[in-house]
Amino acid sequence: MFRKLLLLIVCICLKISWCQLIDLNICPNGLTNSPSDPQWPKIFPNRFEIFSEITTDVETFEVMQLFIGPHRDIIYFRNYEKNLQIYYDFETNEIFTINDELKCNRSKIQSNEYLLFITNQYIKPSILLGFDGRNNYSMGFYTRYIGKEIIRDGILTKKFESCFYINQENLTINATYYLSESPPNEMHINSAPDFVQIDVRSSNYLYTYNIIRYVSNPSLTFTTPSGVYCPNRINRKEFPQNLPSRLLVQAEIYIPKTNDTTSKIESYNRFIDETLKFERIDYSIGKIITPPQPNQILIDYSTNLSYMYTSETQQCTVMNASIHSIGTTNEILFQFGANNNSIQFQYTGITNCEREHVKCHRWIGQRDLNTLIQQYEWYWSAKYNEIDLSEFIPIKVNIATIYKTGSSKPIIQEANMFNYNPQPNSMENIDSILGECYRALGPSHNFNYAILRMTLNNDAKYPIHQHLLSLENHLHIQLANDLKIRHIRLSSFVIDTTHDTTNQQDKDVYVTFTLLDNPPISSNSLRELSSLELIRQLARQINDGNFYVRDNDGAFDLQARPNSLRTLVFYLLPSENHTNYFNETAFIYHNVTQTIIKQREKLVYQHTGSKITALWTGFALLGMVVALAVGSFILIRKWAPIFNHQRT
Ligand SMILES: *[C@@H]1O[C@H](CO)[C@@H](O)[C@H](O)[C@H]1NC(C)=O
Ligand SMILES: *[C@@H]1O[C@H](CO)[C@@H](O)[C@H](O)[C@H]1NC(C)=O
Ligand SMILES: *[C@@H]1O[C@H](CO)[C@@H](O)[C@H](O)[C@H]1NC(C)=O
Ligand SMILES: *[C@@H]1O[C@H](CO)[C@@H](O)[C@H](O)[C@H]1NC(C)=O
Ligand SMILES: *[C@@H]1O[C@H](CO)[C@@H](O)[C@H](O)[C@H]1NC(C)=O
Ligand SMILES: *[C@@H]1O[C@H](CO)[C@@H](O)[C@H](O)[C@H]1NC(C)=O
Ligand SMILES: *[C@@H]1O[C@H](CO)[C@@H](O)[C@H](O)[C@H]1NC(C)=O
Ligand SMILES: *[C@@H]1O[C@H](CO)[C@@H](O)[C@H](O)[C@H]1NC(C)=O
Ligand SMILES: *[C@@H]1O[C@H](CO)[C@@H](O)[C@H](O)[C@H]1NC(C)=O
Ligand SMILES: *[C@@H]1O[C@H](CO)[C@@H](O)[C@H](O)[C@H]1NC(C)=O
Ligand SMILES: *[C@@H]1O[C@H](CO)[C@@H](O)[C@H](O)[C@H]1NC(C)=O
Repeated sequence: MFRKLLLLIVCICLKISWCQLIDLNICPNGLTNSPSDPQWPKIFPNRFEIFSEITTDVETFEVMQLFIGPHRDIIYFRNYEKNLQIYYDFETNEIFTINDELKCNRSKIQSNEYLLFITNQYIKPSILLGFDGRNNYSMGFYTRYIGKEIIRDGILTKKFESCFYINQENLTINATYYLSESPPNEMHINSAPDFVQIDVRSSNYLYTYNIIRYVSNPSLTFTTPSGVYCPNRINRKEFPQNLPSRLLVQAEIYIPKTNDTTSKIESYNRFIDETLKFERIDYSIGKIITPPQPNQILIDYSTNLSYMYTSETQQCTVMNASIHSIGTTNEILFQFGANNNSIQFQYTGITNCEREHVKCHRWIGQRDLNTLIQQYEWYWSAKYNEIDLSEFIPIKVNIATIYKTGSSKPIIQEANMFNYNPQPNSMENIDSILGECYRALGPSHNFNYAILRMTLNNDAKYPIHQHLLSLENHLHIQLANDLKIRHIRLSSFVIDTTHDTTNQQDKDVYVTFTLLDNPPISSNSLRELSSLELIRQLARQINDGNFYVRDNDGAFDLQARPNSLRTLVFYLLPSENHTNYFNETAFIYHNVTQTIIKQREKLVYQHTGSKITALWTGFALLGMVVALAVGSFILIRKWAPIFNHQRT
């Protein structure tokens, strides 16, 4: 009776509402009141890892809690029949429950909901350590020192007790703590507590936490496991969108073995130019295959054509690209624009990504393709040596192909990216492959081109031989600008400075290059001027003395000599008027074979320069187009290889 009276007095001092609710069967002496015993650890870390075993009269199971800051925690629960990982995120108010098969169930936490329990009966370890159900320090949690006690046959412990009440659940808890007694020389006021055991009584339910390991302030990251996608999860960080408009990246893809094939590593070089709407992919599987397969692909998004080139045989196949209005680097790189079936990514946190010193942001997303699901898990650099990076760079992607039907296991491929270059040189990267493709396809397929030559006046005797590369670049840009065409139409520049060995006074610079015509497609969307019109225009400009190529630093400043433009080779569409238009300074032939032989003789005779003859080697295969069984190469070229899923 006296005790109850005392309790009442205590209650008046504390919050009255609590007292009426306390279960006096659990805490006959009432709540433990402020302050906590001085021997109780003063600063309780809000970041810890606790690994324990819960034992009751009837069962035993394992519980591990990772507690990170005030807003998140993870519970790992394991008993003889199930194995669960439960992620609580009070920032987004979500719980993710992940089972043995790594299936994830997401549920919402009401904003006023307090999550105290692991299962219906057992409260989370963090609650017993003085946190509330939303992982904040709990207001009404205090402890009393009881005395020393030896438990488990010999562990000397300090025993504490706490009776506290959890408002939201109308739950009274009486917990007894056993902290191991630190040897005197290790006594620090702020040293981490070392829990051995916690006995819990609530609503006449008794259980014991046997603490196997307690670590305070560990380095923990809150990430759901790799490869786990939680439908409807709130995305906490946008998937990187701000890719540069030009990009060169190298990737190696590990392809696991299947019943029919061995495992292999394929490597890709991808170059993307968003403004040019152009992509080049070089592909290699690290071994020689016969017959040779295409190993370079050019995709011209402005004409919807893809050129597949086999460098060994100099063969080119052109196809309609099966791509739907993809425009930005982002869409090209990830193909998310396709079929309006863009992937919703969810951010899963910062993790290791198998690169030294690098930590990565991770996103996961899925695309549903009727019979299968394609899952992408992207890793982008986040930190280098723990320093935050301002710009994200793709590091790797895991691509899982998950079959909806049948028992086939998911196929997982890993692509690692290297040599990310956000400022590649577009001209160098496209180089002359498109020109080579045109030559291989040839006028018989209406892939027409011209080879032109002009003379630059170098009476000022600039040391051109020291600046050949720069001159080539400047010429390329100047011609593309003046003619208002994409620079991919110009290639194979040959600069000849020692053209006429019989005349030592001749300092002129001879420039030979290839000009490609528009590809023969019906669409006019990005059609530029035809070669015929361009040659006409260039001839006019040169003859008017208006074609210059200048280096900004003054290394050269050259003017094209009027009337110097020569058309060495020119193929036209049959419909085009091929009257000799160029005042006898150029040759326009439509009758291909005959012309080339004539021209070659003339050239070789006039200019013995080896560079110019080299230009002609491409013509050995003129008109030779071999229909290739390209198979699915066009499909597997992307990060997302597609499998023959009919077979399963
Ligand atoms: C809270 O629990 C106590 C003891 O279990 C009970 O007597 C009381 O009625 C409960 N109060 C509410 C509001 O549920
Ligand atoms: C907690 O329970 C123990 C018995 O398990 C009891 O001795 C103790 O008095 C209780 N604490 C309070 C504050 O009532
Ligand atoms: C997911 O969790 C919710 C709430 O916890 C539950 O109602 C639902 O049945 C669960 N779904 C699956 C597939 O486990
Ligand atoms: C948790 O604590 C933080 C600061 O300590 C506070 O801003 C927040 O409102 C608290 N959350 C709840 C649910 O009490
Ligand atoms: C691969 O072989 C195993 C065993 O022979 C078979 O069960 C499985 O269906 C095969 N998978 C495929 C994709 O053919
Ligand atoms: C490319 O193909 C897509 C879809 O087939 C079409 O919408 C687009 O207009 C085409 N672009 C060109 C330049 O033909
Ligand atoms: C590309 O598609 C167009 C019409 O859509 C068709 O006329 C043309 O033959 C196709 N070209 C190739 C190389 O398949
Ligand atoms: C793509 O999807 C969005 C939203 O689902 C829709 O608003 C849009 O009209 C779709 N676009 C096309 C081309 O189907
Ligand atoms: C070709 O051009 C010439 C000169 O411009 C003109 O006389 C002739 O009629 C044209 N031929 C055709 C088929 O357009
Ligand atoms: C044709 O070229 C010659 C020199 O090669 C030049 O004198 C003449 O003016 C040119 N005619 C036209 C119409 O451009
Ligand atoms: C091309 O030239 C050859 C040889 O002079 C001739 O037999 C053939 O008819 C010409 N073809 C065309 C399309 O003019």
